[in-house]
Amino acid sequence: MKQQLAILGSTGSIGTQTLKIVEQFPHRFNVRALATGTNISLLEEQVRRFHPEIVAVYHKEHAVTLKNRLADLSVKVLSGERGMIELSAWPGVDVVIVAVVGFSGMMPTLTAIRAGKKVALANKETLVVAGELVMTEARRFKATVLPIDSEHSAIFQCLHAGRKGEIKQVVLTASGGPFLGKKKEELADVTPEQALKHPNWKMGPRISVDSATLMNKGFEVIEACRLFELEKNQIKVVIHPESIVHSMVEYLDGSILAQLGLPDMLLPIQYALSYPERWANDFPRFAWDHHHALHFSPVFEGEYPCLDLAYYALQAGGTMPAVLNGADEIVVHSFLEKRISFLQIPTLLAEVMSRHKVIQQPSLEEIVEADRWARRETEKVICRI
Ligand SMILES: NC(=O)c1ccc[n+]([C@@H]2O[C@H](COP(=O)([O-])OP(=O)(O)OC[C@H]3O[C@@H](n4cnc5c(N)ncnc54)[C@H](OP(=O)(O)O)[C@@H]3O)[C@@H](O)[C@H]2O)c1
Repeated sequence: MKQQLAILGSTGSIGTQTLKIVEQFPHRFNVRALATGTNISLLEEQVRRFHPEIVAVYHKEHAVTLKNRLADLSVKVLSGERGMIELSAWPGVDVVIVAVVGFSGMMPTLTAIRAGKKVALANKETLVVAGELVMTEARRFKATVLPIDSEHSAIFQCLHAGRKGEIKQVVLTASGGPFLGKKKEELADVTPEQALKHPNWKMGPRISVDSATLMNKGFEVIEACRLFELEKNQIKVVIHPESIVHSMVEYLDGSILAQLGLPDMLLPIQYALSYPERWANDFPRFAWDHHHALHFSPVFEGEYPCLDLAYYALQAGGTMPAVLNGADEIVVHSFLEKRISFLQIPTLLAEVMSRHKVIQQPSLEEIVEADRWARRETEKVICRI
């Protein structure tokens, strides 16, 4: 039977690659629903190519334009946050791929879970800001949440080799981003263009900047804790510049299992959709007939301030991870607009976090309010510099 898909964020890096998988396996998928932010030209192309019955865009005026452009088709066009949420619970959809960026992924993910859909989750921010609540709901509604993030896909695959109680630690690999090996003084004048040039991966702007600061790795630590119910001290980050080993699980007996592959998101996206099966494909593969050297080096406290802030947010718990994410969305945006420098990113985040009074075991409303508070507070702090 074909899987019936809803793809949220279909015009982005993960969204477009998900549609490539659909094109590779046309007999396995129907695209029933697509949601995007602003890129209605690409969305129109996708509608004409994949024939969903419903789409959602963020702005109402975009929805009107798109509806006019698609007047020859019977596709339903929704708009606003509510549009994407409605689409996440759309009857007839059985798998929701959440590939939107930022906090905007949280409500659609929760909605899909509560509607009993299988969720293939690229949007790590959902698990950062509301991971405990989301995973509790997933257990309550017996919904499956499968990771798309390459590191978490790797861990998920390695976890099949042992029992939960047999895990010693999870080793998350980090490429180190475009500024690996640079001293603090050398980072003072780096530009957004340089930060966006990741050596191994082609990704959207927010995750690219987060990879340059290693905030992305910090978010992945929180994501791994929530997804796999691990303690903070069971996760170790190591630098692995080649991005071939996507992550590892070390068991109590000293065995370390790793998942390897080229730095290419097609494979983890496919695995989230094919699980528990594996499907043959013709994607580029690791070449065993070449010489390769794989390097690993430790990360020390104080080396990457954004990674330390993420560990701090995890330790503080409650609403603090939501504050870190909300503040990070604003500072990354401000850095891309050249309002702040690269080195101001962790300083501003630390300032906002220090002003926050944590609410433990927050409700959904308290998480939403913490996110709003963090955005307002970050704007204020930026305006004062
Ligand atoms: N890219 C990767 O390799 C990668 C790897 C692992 C995890 N992830 C995670 O996957 C998520 C997506 O990353 P990405 O790199 O694909 O980002 P991206 O290229 O920036 O794409 C983001 C997508 O979200 C849509 N979007 C943004 N705000 C929206 C809103 N308010 N409502 C509806 N749609 C909205 C965008 O639409 P428009 O473009 O039409 O405005 C676009 O389709 C992130 O959470 C990221 O951390 C990405």
